[in-house]
Amino acid sequence: MILSPREGDPRREPWVAPPWYRPALGLEALRHRPARQPHWTYLTAAPGVARDLARLAAPPDPRGFSVGLAGLGRVGGVAATVLAAAPRRVSGIRELVIHDVDAANQQRWLLELGSIARWQGRGELPLVRAAGPREIFERCDAFLFAATDGVPPLGTRGEVRMVQLAPNRAILRGFLAEARRAAFAGLFLIVSDPVEWLAQSVFFDSNSDRQGRFVGDGLAPERIAGLGLGVMWARALAAARRRGWSETVARAGAAYGPHSKEVVAFDDVARPDRTRSERLSRAARECNFKVRDLGHLPYVGPGVSSVGLMLPPLLAGREALASVFVDGVYFGAPARLTWGLYPTGRRMADEVWTALAGLHARLRARARALDLLWE
Ligand SMILES: NC(=O)c1ccc[n+]([C@@H]2O[C@H](COP(=O)([O-])OP(=O)(O)OC[C@H]3O[C@@H](n4cnc5c(N)ncnc54)[C@H](O)[C@@H]3O)[C@@H](O)[C@H]2O)c1
Repeated sequence: MILSPREGDPRREPWVAPPWYRPALGLEALRHRPARQPHWTYLTAAPGVARDLARLAAPPDPRGFSVGLAGLGRVGGVAATVLAAAPRRVSGIRELVIHDVDAANQQRWLLELGSIARWQGRGELPLVRAAGPREIFERCDAFLFAATDGVPPLGTRGEVRMVQLAPNRAILRGFLAEARRAAFAGLFLIVSDPVEWLAQSVFFDSNSDRQGRFVGDGLAPERIAGLGLGVMWARALAAARRRGWSETVARAGAAYGPHSKEVVAFDDVARPDRTRSERLSRAARECNFKVRDLGHLPYVGPGVSSVGLMLPPLLAGREALASVFVDGVYFGAPARLTWGLYPTGRRMADEVWTALAGLHARLRARARALDLLWE
């Protein structure tokens, strides 16, 4: 592997980039085919990059990934169940290290997940054990954050995700302190709401000094991502299936943007049908509220589609849906892990591009309003 230094803004670009990804493209990367450059590149302006390059040089563990999961509630519990039931050779995960602040709940999940087995099954399942944040950041390759201070109860009208930003960001600060202590250079994956803004605050908080100035000695932006687009896409696909369009949609469609009412889905990214795309987007946006109106909090689809079925292909370096760092903000898109997570480009109709560029600009403006940008 050959690495070349690159000039660039560490507040807006990935610190380390593989040959197929051109950071200078910014959002344009969504509509460009992978590049064929000779070298990996890295930014010299972020002090934290030295730790990342050392980690990049370390050989991966041939036994598979060690995944830490904090927050064993409805979503975290379902996600852990799916991961614990997938054979190691399928998921690539050798162990699942679970943690919850509620000791009885943690013990309960240790017993439940430990009770998952196959009769004379051929595939060995991941080892499940419990540990505190300190050990998780010392040992794990990837960390999933699915904890919350509280999900707004049933009957809540309006926004149920943004209200979790301040309390969940406060919980994350404790985890970030442990990550720093352990010089953690693994993947930091956000499941909790608001997914993209928590990912943004992880990047911001781990790289700021006390006055909120950029220091750049924390987590690299491309090693942080949000996992919330999977369920949005699953909800859009379910609507397509009901109307008999699912074959085209599964092959040519995609979802983009945040795990929120602003998510957009297209039946065919290169040749979108406006009515179909609007229906898919609506299904992705509204299913959450339909489940709530029936008297239940939605968590099975999220735990399975955003995390349980998404993490194994993501870790294997196949295309997955995640909110990844694109031109300074976390933006949901098809993406691929090659050291960090980078958006994968595809041929795109002009109207799709216009919609995504507008959405990205609005998210950047909101990041500024939330004081989550250094500019
Ligand atoms: N990404 C997605 O697709 C998606 C979809 C739906 C919901 N969500 C979000 O996922 C999050 C979890 O939702 P839920 O329904 O599972 O919540 P929940 O209330 O059922 O569970 C939260 C868990 O976090 C634990 N916890 C709280 N503080 C902790 C700490 N400091 N350390 C470790 N554990 C801690 C609690 O003990 C509890 O077990 C919420 O933010 C929710 O909005 C995400």
